[in-house]
Amino acid sequence: MSAFREGLLEGKTAFIAGGSSGINLGIAEKYASLGAKLAILSRSQDKIDAAIEKLKSFGGEVIGFSADVRDFDAVEAALAATTDEFGTIDILVSGAAGNFLAPAMDLSPNGFKTVVDIDLIGTFNVFRASWDHLTKPGASLIAITAIQAVQPKPFQVHAAAGKSGVNMVSKSLALEWGPAGVRVNLISPGPIENTEGISKLGGSDEQMKRFVNSLALRRMGKSEDIGNAAVFLGSDASSFVTGTVLNVDGGADLGDASVDCLTPFPKRK
Ligand code: HXC
Ligand code: NAP
Repeated sequence: MSAFREGLLEGKTAFIAGGSSGINLGIAEKYASLGAKLAILSRSQDKIDAAIEKLKSFGGEVIGFSADVRDFDAVEAALAATTDEFGTIDILVSGAAGNFLAPAMDLSPNGFKTVVDIDLIGTFNVFRASWDHLTKPGASLIAITAIQAVQPKPFQVHAAAGKSGVNMVSKSLALEWGPAGVRVNLISPGPIENTEGISKLGGSDEQMKRFVNSLALRRMGKSEDIGNAAVFLGSDASSFVTGTVLNVDGGADLGDASVDCLTPFPKRK
C-alpha cells in the first residue's frame, strides 16, 4: 500500500535527469504511480525506452530524451520540449551521476574531471537550464547527493569533490530562487540495494555485511525509500522546506553504530 494519497501528484509535471535506471527510476515510478506526467533524460536510448515502457504501465504520460547532462544546450532543449508537451515543470530531479573506485594516485586528471563534470557541472546545467521552464511560484528542485559530499571515503576523491559541489550549488540556488517561490533541496541516499552505485562501490559481500551492520537501522535501503522522500520534497507537504539535505540513509550520516547500545552497559564496581 502506498504511503501517499492516490492521485497526489495529478496535474504535476516532473522531469528526472538520470531517470532511466536505479534510484532515479525508482523516483520516477513513485511519481508515475501518484499521477504525475513524466519526462526522463539520460544518454542511452535503450535504457530510456525500457524505462518508458515500465513507467507507462502506471497509466500516465511519459516522454524521454537521450542527452548528456554535460551538454547544456541539449539539456535546455529537453526541458523546453517537456514544457511544450506537458506545461511548466513542477518537480525537477537532478540525479545523473558517474562513479568508480580509483586511488587518487592512479586517477588521471580526465578521470577526476569526468566525474566532476557529470555530477557537479551536470547538476548546475540541469538546474540553470530549467529556470525559464519552471512553474513559478511552486516548483520544487531536488538534487541527489551522497555522503561523500560531507565525509571523505577512500578512492572517491572525484565523487567527493563533485557531490560537495552539488550540495553548494543546490543551497546557493535555494537562496537565490526562494523569493520566486522555487524550492531547492537534496536527498542523500544511503546504500541502496540492486543499484549500479552499490555494485560499483559496495565491495565484497563480507564488506557490505559489515557496513550494513554498522548502520543504526541495520539494513540496506530500497529505491522506494528514496522515492518516498522525493514525493515529500516534490509535493506541497514540504512547502516551507528549502536548502536542506534529507538523509535517507539508515543513519549512515551518524557514523559507526556497530556498538551494541541496547544491552545494559556493565556497571563500574
Ligand atoms: C580509473 C577511470 C575508470 C576507472 C573511467 N576512468 N573509468 N579511471 N578507474 N574505473 C577514466 C578514463 O580512463 C578516462 O580518463 C576518464 O575516466 C573518462 O572515461 P570515459 O569512459 O571516457 O567516460 P564516460 O564515457 O563519460 O563515462 C563516465 C564514467 C562511467 C563515469 C566513467 O562509469 C559512467 O558513464 N558511469 C555512469 C553510471 C554510474 O557510474 N552509476 C553509478 C553512480 S553511483 P583518461 O585519462 O584515460 O582519458 C554514485 C555514487 C553513490 O554516484 C555513492 C554510493 C555509496
Ligand atoms: P545509475 O543506475 O547508474 O543511475 C545513474 C543515471 O544517470 C542513469 O540513468 C544513467 O543513464 C544516467 N547518467 C549517467 N551519466 C549521465 C550523463 N552524463 N548524462 C545524462 N545521464 C547520465 O546509479 P544509481 O546507483 O541508481 O545512482 C543514482 C543516483 O543516486 C546518483 O546521483 C548517485 O550518485 C546517487 N547515490 C546512489 C547511491 C547508491 O547506493 N546506489 C548512494 C548514494 C547516492 P545513462 O547511462 O543512460 O546515461
